[in-house]
Amino acid sequence: MSEARKLHVKSYGCQMNAYDSQRMADLLAGQGFVETAAAETAELVILNTCHIREKAAEKVYSELGRIRKWKDRAAAEGRRMTIAVAGCVAQAEGEEILRRAPLVDIVVGPQNYHRLPALLDRAERGDKPVDTEFAAESKFDAIPPAGGAAIRRRGVAAFVTVQEGCDKFCTFCVVPYTRGAEISRPVEQIIAEVRHLARAGVREVTLIGQNVNAYHGEGPGGRTWTLGRLLRRVAEISGIARVRYFTSHPRDVDDSLVAAHRELGQLMPYLHLPVQSGSDRVLAAMNRRHGRADYLRIVARMREARPDMAFSSDFIVGFPGETEGDFEKTLELVDEIGYAGAFSFKYSPRPGTPAAAMADQVPEPVKNERLARLQAAIERNQAAFNARCLGTTLPVLLEKPGRRPGQLVGRSPYLQPVQIMLPESRIGDIVPVAVTEIGVNSLFGSLAREPSGSDRTAPLLAVGS
Ligand code: SAH
Ligand code: SF4
Ligand code: F3S
Repeated sequence: MSEARKLHVKSYGCQMNAYDSQRMADLLAGQGFVETAAAETAELVILNTCHIREKAAEKVYSELGRIRKWKDRAAAEGRRMTIAVAGCVAQAEGEEILRRAPLVDIVVGPQNYHRLPALLDRAERGDKPVDTEFAAESKFDAIPPAGGAAIRRRGVAAFVTVQEGCDKFCTFCVVPYTRGAEISRPVEQIIAEVRHLARAGVREVTLIGQNVNAYHGEGPGGRTWTLGRLLRRVAEISGIARVRYFTSHPRDVDDSLVAAHRELGQLMPYLHLPVQSGSDRVLAAMNRRHGRADYLRIVARMREARPDMAFSSDFIVGFPGETEGDFEKTLELVDEIGYAGAFSFKYSPRPGTPAAAMADQVPEPVKNERLARLQAAIERNQAAFNARCLGTTLPVLLEKPGRRPGQLVGRSPYLQPVQIMLPESRIGDIVPVAVTEIGVNSLFGSLAREPSGSDRTAPLLAVGS
């Protein structure tokens, strides 16, 4: 048998890219490739890139600078090293990547990577293919399921893309251009994938999409399903104990989603609901199509359905025209909601987006100062949320070995990492953990008395203002 060909995939950006990287590895496994962590020895290196902010997009070029040395060494030793740039930078920059970085052999957009085997053949014949025309066929139809060993290596919590692309066109954002129009995968295809994961030992699935709650996939019998309905179906799959979803848009929160949180014990009480800004003026300029009051109403409805619901968000500071007054409204909103955590970013002008051409760009020092104040507010909220968990018992899905010998790390329903001393044989179990200590980024605890029979411990914590 010939020696396995080595593949190294490096992912930047969002969960969708992480999922795509896994699917590329699954696809190429069929071509005899095995993954290696040692990129310098790989026959094929794929950089799965992100274009969301300038810093993310530029990272790929510094990485390519490093890779050039490995490729030169491989050539000197008579080995082939093929470099592919995939993902959202590939989609946005196309041919330009070959001009800036001649060592690149393949450029492939996020909707076309199912064609990698053919692109690889062309590269091996000395061609430099660029494939960024949105494919007519769906990549999801073309890729074989992951092998059981690959699934087990990836752990007991898995992502499944159910929806991709975006038609919302927020004025700051590249995603509608890099991922294309919104599409939803058919229900049956998703169910088959989750069943396959569950059979290999996965206990928790997170359904992901750029606008996951805009899901409108075709159900059995041809009717369109909402995300709420899909979550219900996924929760019924044998072996799946926990279900999450990510990322939601405030415009697309509907009754079926709220009802799912009220009724489904397996649906975790954690909602990532990006608001971006607390100022209606800024939200309008961003073309978010929701106001501050709409957002607060959704939070209230969700808390009414599920009193222990935890929230997180994304924020942008320094959007063009943002005044100190606008920014203070964002700070106020953070305290009003009481977030369990949040991501915050300085506005980064992106080529081709409307906001990049707006007047009143906010100076960098002002952005820095606002970011620091916002992050302090978020940290304060997060610490308060975590502090409320002290002394409670939380059901924890044990995921992997922790930092110290004999320690495991798992996740609470609210996505907090929880460290506990238990043997590795318990990975994949959901155990009740008495929280005894709060760290900066995780909780610490010990095993509480386990109920007999079921591991579906109900969350015991009631939080919220
Ligand atoms: N679809 C999701 C988020 C997609 S991008 C939503 O609608 O909320 C993830 C986050 O990156 C966004 O929520 C936003 O906070 C941030 N982001 C997007 N474009 C940005 C830009 N040009 N500058 C800074 N942050 C940006
Ligand atoms: Fe970007 Fe807005 Fe679409 Fe989210 S909803 S992906 S922020 S355009
Ligand atoms: Fe980045 Fe593309 Fe995701 S731009 S955030 S990798 S959709």
